[in-house]
Amino acid sequence: MSAQPGLFIAFEGGDGAGKSTQVRLLADAVVLAGREVVITRQPGGTPLGQSLRELVLHGDHMSARAEALLFAADKADHVEQVIRPALRVGSVVITDRYVDSSVAYQGAGRDLGADEVQRLQTWAVDGLLPDLTVIVDISADEGRRRRGEVHDRMESEGDDFHEAIRSHFLAMAAAEPERYLVVDGTASVEEIAEQIADRVRELGIDL
Ligand code: TYD
Repeated sequence: MSAQPGLFIAFEGGDGAGKSTQVRLLADAVVLAGREVVITRQPGGTPLGQSLRELVLHGDHMSARAEALLFAADKADHVEQVIRPALRVGSVVITDRYVDSSVAYQGAGRDLGADEVQRLQTWAVDGLLPDLTVIVDISADEGRRRRGEVHDRMESEGDDFHEAIRSHFLAMAAAEPERYLVVDGTASVEEIAEQIADRVRELGIDL
């Protein structure tokens, strides 16, 4: 738990899963419930993060370790500048991707080892865990179909890379069901939103 007055919710999943739509719908519902909401995304939630995002997603080839460190730097800045201050004043913070993206993409996808990347990320965010992580689950094949022709450095990787990431997200959720909700990304937008709202209600937000 975030051990602060706010509530911290992360959305994770493969490229093209439809996370961003669900982030927006949840944020609207939480605002209607009378809570202050901060929506953010990684990488790129701060000015430094924007520069790191450009480098890591649209730059040239780089070593897997350099990639992991750039994502970690983005998170360190983001947590200190945006997330912790918002949680401190009682806001509900909803982030589009967080630590688990790095564990899955750099750890499982790039073969750096999930445990090692988890340690690096935990250090970067100084131990801050979400109260709830929603995994919007989608197959590599369906994700590729939905993304169409737009390709950044991660998206242009093959289906094997994206399937390894998907399996890792599901394994993390299975290991700690009290901290995760897995929703089927092929269900309707409304159905997914309702499942998420049900779970967020259990965290004490009167949606
Ligand atoms: P983005 O354009 O934000 O797409 P999406 O809508 O899929 O979230 O792309 C972020 C990309 O960066 C995505 O492919 C996942 C990847 N990523 C990592 O590899 N490691 C990380 O720590 C984070 C936060 C993202």
